Amino acid sequence: MKNDVENHKLNSRDRFLEAMSRLSSAVSVVTSDGAIGRVGVTVSSLVSVSADSAKPTVLVCIHKSSSSCPVILGNGVFCANILAHDQLHVADAFAGRAGNQYGSKFALATWSSGKIGVPRLVGSLAALECRIADQKVIGQHHVIFGEVQNILFGVSGSPLIYSSRKYATTAGLGHLANSLGKITSEKMLFEGERVDGTNDRTAIC
Ligand SMILES: Cc1cc2nc3c(=O)[nH]c(=O)nc-3n(C[C@H](O)[C@H](O)[C@H](O)COP(=O)(O)O)c2cc1C
Repeated sequence: MKNDVENHKLNSRDRFLEAMSRLSSAVSVVTSDGAIGRVGVTVSSLVSVSADSAKPTVLVCIHKSSSSCPVILGNGVFCANILAHDQLHVADAFAGRAGNQYGSKFALATWSSGKIGVPRLVGSLAALECRIADQKVIGQHHVIFGEVQNILFGVSGSPLIYSSRKYATTAGLGHLANSLGKITSEKMLFEGERVDGTNDRTAIC
């Protein structure tokens, strides 16, 4: 992570990228299968749009240069597989970072065919099977809106996180206190906490 002086010298695009790198995002693999082909791509851009539309809706942003993007758009369906912390190798493979060490990207994990025929990653935390409802090009990205047709839950565990351009996990971390100081987890994340339970709490952030 650059310091503030270094960040000041960056152009506005790089400042934006540096700021966004400080977001911690869950990592997912968006897969698709259909008439145009079978593909998958690692993303951190999956977000919930609305739970209260006719169908729950998510969006994902995929770069125009991604070879998966036209296939996903052409098939009209995708599955957003939310990765568990032990699926880093899957994330790397579908981000094109693993070279050929796994052969076919799909060969390194077990998949089932979802209700609408999209590849669901076995061992993921959850999988959202979507039909594409809309898409919009913003800059170099396709913003793809998916209406959720079916939801499958997999393992319950810690998600794989991407933060400051590195993978991370929430495994072993507790939750912070809410604004009234009520602790919402059995395990604290505070500096200055004492064994007897008293403390001068400063949240680590
Ligand atoms: C953690 C992580 C998150 C990523 N998030 C996105 C994303 O949200 N959108 C995107 O277009 N690319 C994203 N990428 C990059 C793509 O996974 C990468 O460009 C991939 O090689 C595209 O593969 P394809 O050309 O086979 O589709 C991400 C990569 C990593 C490692």
